[in-house]
Amino acid sequence: MQLLQYHRSFAATCLRLVRYASTAASRNASFAALEDTDTNFFRDVLGDSNVITDIDALQPLNEDWMGKYSGKSKLALRPKSTEQVSKVLAYCNDRHLAIVPQGGNTGLVGGSIPLFDEVILLTAGLNQVISFDAVSGTLVCQAGCILEHLDNQVGAQGFTMPLDLGAKGSCQIGGNVSTNAGGLRLLRYGSLHGSVLGIEAVLADGTVVDTLQTLRKDNTGYDLKQLFIGSEGTLGVVTAVSLLCPPRPSAVHVCYLAVPDFATTQKVFVRARQKLGEILSAFEFFDQQALDLTLKHLEGVRNPLPDTQTPFYLVVETSGSNEAHDSEKLQGFLEEVMEEGMVLDGTIAQDSTQIAGIWGIREGISVALKHAGPVYKYDLSIPVAEMYSLVEETRHRMAGLPVEVVGYGHLGDGNLHLNVSCQRYDEEILKHIEPFVYEWTAARKGSISAEHGLGQMKADCIGYTKPQPVVQLMTQVKQAFDPKGILNPYKVLPQVMAVAQ
Ligand code: FAD
Ligand code: MLT
Ligand code: ZN
Repeated sequence: MQLLQYHRSFAATCLRLVRYASTAASRNASFAALEDTDTNFFRDVLGDSNVITDIDALQPLNEDWMGKYSGKSKLALRPKSTEQVSKVLAYCNDRHLAIVPQGGNTGLVGGSIPLFDEVILLTAGLNQVISFDAVSGTLVCQAGCILEHLDNQVGAQGFTMPLDLGAKGSCQIGGNVSTNAGGLRLLRYGSLHGSVLGIEAVLADGTVVDTLQTLRKDNTGYDLKQLFIGSEGTLGVVTAVSLLCPPRPSAVHVCYLAVPDFATTQKVFVRARQKLGEILSAFEFFDQQALDLTLKHLEGVRNPLPDTQTPFYLVVETSGSNEAHDSEKLQGFLEEVMEEGMVLDGTIAQDSTQIAGIWGIREGISVALKHAGPVYKYDLSIPVAEMYSLVEETRHRMAGLPVEVVGYGHLGDGNLHLNVSCQRYDEEILKHIEPFVYEWTAARKGSISAEHGLGQMKADCIGYTKPQPVVQLMTQVKQAFDPKGILNPYKVLPQVMAVAQ
């Protein structure tokens, strides 16, 4: 019986792969080409300074954070209000001009970048905090607010943003919501599907969908805001967000642990949950290769355990409200895991500088990889017990090639970041990684995107994680929200499905 089921699911996977067989995206000929009259219209609506046509100014907007994807847009627009976004979209919809929403442009799957000549819609001008309720912790703000700025603002009133990530200095809350970003504290605060209370978004035809409420509970009909969370700019442009901020923890402790093997990282995780309970706020891991790369490429990063070499390192954080109690709990946990030989060596940060130093290593890995050169990034949900085998198998497959395979991620969330650092983006190298990584993940019922999204990188690969009827339903949702398909084309859904509309 089990065998039969396995065969069925394998057959279904094969079917999906045939259906979505990767097509190099070609420009959808039904989209109009930009004309001077279009640019003049946008100048009237937005003012000259918010209509960008200068080639040098457009260049960074046409390129992604990794330097992996680039487009050829000749126009970027910077609206400053929802009304302006609505006018721009209504016009583009009438004219059949394709649009790419772009926030902080820190996305890692080529979602914020045009493939061809799509108009770039910048959300940076939507940067106002609308309100903050210091009783409930409810923040209402425009989509272009930078995550770190928001955290500083709510921090001044004793609250914290419910997410944190290495790109916090540049990424925007609208981009975070549109990618359903996970980050370093999902373990503690949950996903944005829980923290976001309301969204204001503009549909392709200019309709403003206002669900920007601040209620904790509302069961009137379908919860449409959830559709925008993680839709990567394909269903609407998010213009404002309301979200729940938890109280800022007054006692934060971070420790850095050296662990002998991957199986033991899981034992330490189980023990951390048992011993630290509600104060556990992050449980991150990285391998020796990731650490070496970070120490090599980032100035100012210091190895907290310079005399210890081991295959795996953990960053464990607690966040609570009672310094003495939390510290005692963490000490007790550490004593146990060290006495039992699970942890070979460890250190607890003594002050905020040391805390920042430890986080600097973990958050610095992606920046170090960028400094090292081109990188193929995979962002996978995999049952934790099997997670690291993928890194080892990939390393084995690529032995002898001029690449460095590193593994790190949000172990507490079952989220592996497999990265292959190489000297140039190269089809020959890619053939060793794909579809192997996707097939390996699908065989374990994992997800090919835990948190970065599908973007242009994985639009044709959604079938590895979602069954065909589900993708079909998504395509119908897309059709209902954006019948002409002008919003972020060539992203998220397979090109064949989108073109078939
Ligand atoms: P962009 O990159 O500009 O856009 C991302 C996608 O959202 C695109 O498809 C774009 O079209 C769409 N979009 C943007 N704004 C809007 C809007 N207002 N309305 C509709 N669509 C919109 N991700 C994680 O999940 N966890 C991490 O820990 C993490 N760490 C990172 C660390 C670094 C150093 C970097 C560079 C990236 C990291 N990321 C992480 C990737 C992550 O997706 C982004 O950092 C962030 O969520 C994207 O926000 P952004 O404003 O830069 O969006
Ligand atoms: C992280 O966890 O560091 C981010 O998701 C970025 C990355 O994967 O490099
Ligand atoms: Zn991550």
